[in-house]
Parts: sequence; structure tokens; C-alpha cells
Amino acid sequence: MLPHPVVSGAPREQWSSRAGFVLAAVGSAVGLGNMWRFPYLTAEHGGAAFVILYVGVTLAVGLPVLLAELAIGRGAQQSPVRALVHYGGRRWRPLGLVFVAAGFLILSYYSVIAGWALRYTGIALAGGFDAGIAERFAEISEGWDAFGFHLAIMAMTVGIVAGGVRAGIERTALVLMPTLFVLVCGLAVYAATLEGGAPGYEYYLSTDFGDLWSRDVLTQAAGQTFFSLSLGMGAMLTYGSYLGRDNHLPNEALLIAGADLAVAVIAGLVVFPLIFALGLAGAVGESTVGALFITLPQAFAGMGGVGRAVGAVFFAVLVVAALTSAISLLEVVVASAMDGLGWTRRRAALGLGGAIALLGVPPAFHIGVLDLMDKLANNVLLLGGGLALAVFAGWVMADPVAEVRVGAGGVRWFFLWRTLLRFAVPALLLFVLADAVPKTLTAVAAFF
Ligand code: PHE
Repeated sequence: MLPHPVVSGAPREQWSSRAGFVLAAVGSAVGLGNMWRFPYLTAEHGGAAFVILYVGVTLAVGLPVLLAELAIGRGAQQSPVRALVHYGGRRWRPLGLVFVAAGFLILSYYSVIAGWALRYTGIALAGGFDAGIAERFAEISEGWDAFGFHLAIMAMTVGIVAGGVRAGIERTALVLMPTLFVLVCGLAVYAATLEGGAPGYEYYLSTDFGDLWSRDVLTQAAGQTFFSLSLGMGAMLTYGSYLGRDNHLPNEALLIAGADLAVAVIAGLVVFPLIFALGLAGAVGESTVGALFITLPQAFAGMGGVGRAVGAVFFAVLVVAALTSAISLLEVVVASAMDGLGWTRRRAALGLGGAIALLGVPPAFHIGVLDLMDKLANNVLLLGGGLALAVFAGWVMADPVAEVRVGAGGVRWFFLWRTLLRFAVPALLLFVLADAVPKTLTAVAAFF
């Protein structure tokens, strides 16, 4: 057994069980990305063909980086900034700080969207949706309403993170994630019973390989993999740092990625039959936000009393998915302040959560800013962070394989893993970034 690095102060918190860790990590991965962006991207870009591309990108790029993050975190027993310094020396500190900044940025708009979902849950419970939801969304999505519900989400997130790794994060995941799986599957089964839903499956999964061979689609698939698996900003690294030495990291990574993909695919099996059964097919293509927050509620409105119940369940699922992801975003920031500045967990959660709540003002009051922040995070920060992590684990760490071997013993394809990290992952990410960075910068420039 390798000795643990010595950490000053109180002993480091740890997950109490394997299930607790896996569910917390799946909670981080399963979020708005699964329910909101994956079904939409799939429908837009060749249906089942896109799913195949996405699985390929996940196996070749997402999974190796996920394993690297878990290994770095567990090996160093430190949050991102210190973990990178632990293995790479002080010149890697700035990268860790970029991760913390990414946590700030992503959570500040992510929580605004989660707030819309919370609001929608309330609307469904209070009487259901009606035909005027498009106008209503325009009111709800920007301004004081949006800000208020963002604050509510942030308050819950802060409360849970302040509770600690076991009593806060792990306990929440143990209750909420199984509930979420059951509800999502229940919704998919219900959707399958609807008359007229069949064209929805057709729209979602009909295979068209013609659309795949563009750099843009590859960029979107790569961006989605990183966003959906919470990679490239130290979230999985931080969760890995609360692990002991006996987890089989490759198995955990496969389990997390598999569960994330399953929920994403099932979410599409919920969304599209519902929309098509109500004859709203024409309204899907406009935007991801539109499909979820306008078209779908219109479908619920058309379903009468059942629509209220189904709508409430659907948006509650969205809130749960988003909340367990928001927790991991805040944990990156909080753990860094605890390890790096010696803050207590309470102080870090309240102070930094409060700062992120304030940073939510621009995206809450201006949906264009929210969109821009999402592009920046998705296309630049996470992909760039993933590239840096692959280089770090592939070239800088002295012996990453030794760390993964702990608890995993005789697995033989470690060589493949390191080769992917060294060559395939950087090559693909550079190719994608060369396209995505200029586009994103143009979008930023056009905004101002
Ligand atoms: N994985 C989350 C989702 O799919 C988002 C997320 C990104 C969470 C990065 C943490 C870190 O919605």
C-alpha cells in the first residue's frame, strides 16, 4: 500500500461506502446536460448515429479523462489546486485555479436554469400549465423571478455542501439518485403508452449517418461528453479525493459513465414521445431550452389532469438532477478553500456559495449572457481543462498507472489508457478546440 500524503489539520473526510461515492459521482454527472442537451443533440444530429458517435467519443476521450481525474484526486487526497501541485509542482497551480474559476462560472448560470425547473415544478403543482406558457417562460426566465429561484437553488446547494461529504453530499445522493432513476424510468414507460408517440421515437433515434462527418458535430459530441461527465474542471477529481485505497477505479469510471449515458438516452425516450403525442412536433427544432421549457409544458397542458402530475414529476426530476450536479460544482470551490486557505467547510460553503449566488445576477437577468457563459464553459473551459488533464496525467505524473492499479490489481489495459491520454485524447481535443475556441470568441465579441 502506498502511504497517504500528510494533510494538515483535521483528517480528511471520506465517503462512508462505495455506493455512496458512486451515487454521488453519478449525481454529479447526471444533470441538466442529460435531460436538456443530450436528447436535443441526438435528435438534431442523426439520431442513433449520434448516439454511436457519442459512445465512441466517451470511450476514447471521456472515460480516460474520468479515470485520470479519479486517480489524481485519490492519489493526492487533495482538492484540485493542491492535487495538481502534489504531482506536478507549483507551475500547475494556475490550472487548478482555472478549475475553481470554472466552478464559479458554471454554477452561477447552471443554478439559474435549475431555478426555472423549480419554478415549473411549482406551476405544475399549483394548477398545471396552460397554452400561454411561451409568454410565461419569457417572464420567468429573466429578471427578479429567475434570480429568486436561482437563490433558492443556491441556498439548498450551500446547505447540503455545508453538511459535509457524508452527512451532506453522500446522504443526499443516496436518497435522491435512486428516486431519480425510478421516476425517469416511470416517465419513459408512461410515455410509451401514449397514443401517437411513435413518431417521437422516430424523430429521436432514426439513423442518419450523413450528418456525422462534420467537425461541428464532433465538437458538440466532445463538449457534451465532458459536460455530461462533469470533466475538465476538477469535480470528479475532488470526489475522488474522498476515496480510500480499495476502490477499483476503472470499474467505478465505467459505472459512472454507463449510468450517465443510460439516463441521457432514457430522457430522450421521455421527452420526444410526449411532444409528438400532443402534435407539437413542429416546435422542437428551435432550441434546447425551447424544447424543455416551452414545448414540453405545452404538451403537459394538452394532457389535462394527468399532465399536471406528469409535469410535476418531470420538472422535479430535473431539479433533482440539477441539484446533485450543483453540489459537485460548489464542492470543487469549497474543498479548494478548505485545503488551500484553511477555511472551515461552513465558512467556505456560505461565503463562496454567496459569491456565486451574486455572480448569478448577469445570467439571471439576461438570457443572452447565460447562453454565452454556457458556450464558454462547454466549448472552451471544459475541453481545454480536459486537454490539460490528459497531458498532466499522460506526461507529467511520474506513474499514473501505479495509482490506478491500487485496488484494481490485475487489469491489463492500463497501457492502452496511458496511450490514449498521451496521444489520442490531446489530438482529438486539439482538433476540436481549434474549431470551438475561435467560434466561441466570435460569439462573445458579437455579443458586446
Ligand atoms: N454533469 C452535469 C450535467 O450533465 C454538469 C456539470 C458539469 C457538473 C461540470 C459538474 C461539473 O448537467
